[in-house]
Amino acid sequence: MDSRVPASHLYQALAQQMLALVDGGVLRAGMRAPSVRALALQHKVSLSTVLQAYRLLEDRGVLEARPKSGFYIAAQAHHERALPSASKPPLRATPVSVSNPVFSVLAYATDPSYAPLGCAVPSAALLAADRLDRHLARCARVHGRLYNVYADPHGDAELRGQISERALRLGHAVPPDSILVTNGCTEALNVALSVTTRPGDTVAIESPTYFGLLQVLEARGLRALELPTDPVRGVDVAALDKALAARRVAACLLASSFNNPLGTRTDDATKAEIAAVLTRHGVPLIEDDIYGDISFGDDRPRPFSAISPTADIILCSSFSKTIAPGYRIGWLAANRRHDQILAAKFALSLSGAALPQKAMADFLKSGGYDAHLRRIRKAFADNIDRMRRVVDRSFPQATRMTAPAGGFVLWLEMPDGFDTDALYARAIRERICFVPGSLFTATGQYRNCLRLSCSHDWSARLERSVERLGEMAGEMLQ
Ligand SMILES: Cc1ncc(COP(=O)(O)O)c(C=O)c1O
Repeated sequence: MDSRVPASHLYQALAQQMLALVDGGVLRAGMRAPSVRALALQHKVSLSTVLQAYRLLEDRGVLEARPKSGFYIAAQAHHERALPSASKPPLRATPVSVSNPVFSVLAYATDPSYAPLGCAVPSAALLAADRLDRHLARCARVHGRLYNVYADPHGDAELRGQISERALRLGHAVPPDSILVTNGCTEALNVALSVTTRPGDTVAIESPTYFGLLQVLEARGLRALELPTDPVRGVDVAALDKALAARRVAACLLASSFNNPLGTRTDDATKAEIAAVLTRHGVPLIEDDIYGDISFGDDRPRPFSAISPTADIILCSSFSKTIAPGYRIGWLAANRRHDQILAAKFALSLSGAALPQKAMADFLKSGGYDAHLRRIRKAFADNIDRMRRVVDRSFPQATRMTAPAGGFVLWLEMPDGFDTDALYARAIRERICFVPGSLFTATGQYRNCLRLSCSHDWSARLERSVERLGEMAGEMLQ
């Protein structure tokens, strides 16, 4: 819906309720709206309050008044928002400096007294934490002493076997020997960058991109070359080709699927093209597949390395978004540089914690992960759908938003000149946290964008917080 209806008065609250019925498909285009008298009786409000609500909805194009007949649901009462425009970042290698603002946002994003629209971490209730913990307790009981050692730096052999088996289901041959278990995807990305780049080098990335990745580039003294990125298809292949021809790029780092924050889903043919372009320019690809398992459709998208198995690709991922951010279990798999990768991992952290790896292997072996994935995919898809509806009815008309087919974040684009840093400052005062767009780039773009996380259980508080954000955005636009 294209209306913004603030709800601080009775008639506005009533209009909101009518909007929810339209959004929910209860009131459909062409249907007669309840009569003014019936609605007044039902809600125990005056006729003039209902009339005010109906006039507001008429102004917003949700209702149309027909002389001597009453109010009807307009044909355009519910329409899809436009997608954000494809990004056009300046094609230059930029030093990265995002850590300070990121840390200040993370402090609010992890504070439960703020509405959790900021942190892209699934709520504990959605994770199968209890089941996994039971496996951990059992492993500690049975093998505790055995595992209180420096583990094999490659990682638990059974866990690597399980990861390899899951890859094979996608037709992706990843031998257990090519897998290295890491401390989350973050360490995997660091290891991958350490064997492909040197400080001062340039890394090509999507734009906008996950701010944690920008922090990794910053810490490693790397420059970011941001690539034009479409919110549905992903990076622009022709622009990538041109950018690589114009300068030396040490590595390219892309999400395999459902990138954070755009939720892009690049099709297999385009992934093959990207891999071919990179091969032609001799540039290794580091792919981050952390959101790949959270696909809303039946098919789980294949990573680049499954589609182009002979290309120089390092696959990085973890269980942080699907089951256990606190267990810090990630991995990387590469078809070359094996000794270098092992040495880099060893230098960073010797090895991972053995017991959580054993528990994860046990859990995967038990078959519990697939049922769990089915449950959370549905929960995240429902959350995204609900969030889109609330944004639709609460944010200013010109707001664009993504329609991701996986993951759990939404990206909103406000009109040019809108300042989401200023909106953020206002929202924080009202204990609502989201992430302003400026954190997703090294080049000072996306000041008119923001990311909303849909990773928490839906609640009245969450819904009201999104509505309130929309109201504030509307006030700022006036
Ligand atoms: C795209 C992406 N990659 C990596 C990470 C970090 O993963 P991990 O917690 O496994 O280190 C995140 C966390 O938000 C992410 O969004």
